[in-house]
Amino acid sequence: MGTLGCCLLLALALLEPRHAASRKCDLQGLWRNELGSNMTVLALNTAGTFSGSYHTAVAATNKQILVSPLQGVQQHPGAKRQPTFGFTVHWQFSDSTTAFVGQCFVDHRGKETLETTWLLREEVPSLKDTWKATRVGTSTFTRVK
Ligand code: BTN
Repeated sequence: MGTLGCCLLLALALLEPRHAASRKCDLQGLWRNELGSNMTVLALNTAGTFSGSYHTAVAATNKQILVSPLQGVQQHPGAKRQPTFGFTVHWQFSDSTTAFVGQCFVDHRGKETLETTWLLREEVPSLKDTWKATRVGTSTFTRVK
């Protein structure tokens, strides 16, 4: 490789982290969490609202798992590098609802992660059972595509 080639490579290597560091975290895409659940987020509109689908790898019920729709909104669409967001999943095989809130982070190499906290509300037969109706957890999603 000639001197020019070497200089170009060096320049690219030096410039790349800066590009990565200024990149915005993008919610759209295919994501997977630590449980093996897959989530597809479709394109956001100008107001920041989005839809998608969620294929959970686990369930609190014994019913057959079905891919389920999700609806959400991102704060300050297009303006923030690491925006916050929320979405709910309307399970197609259970009476429960899950709400996720989180933030989309991007590291110095451009790797994106969604750091979320979720609440899973189960339908219970009566008010006296409400104390045991909500589960809470955290989940990290990484980009598949
Ligand atoms: C249900 O069991 O009633 C519906 C499925 C719930 C799946 C939960 S939502 C939070 C956690 N993260 C996942 O990816 N799946 C489970």
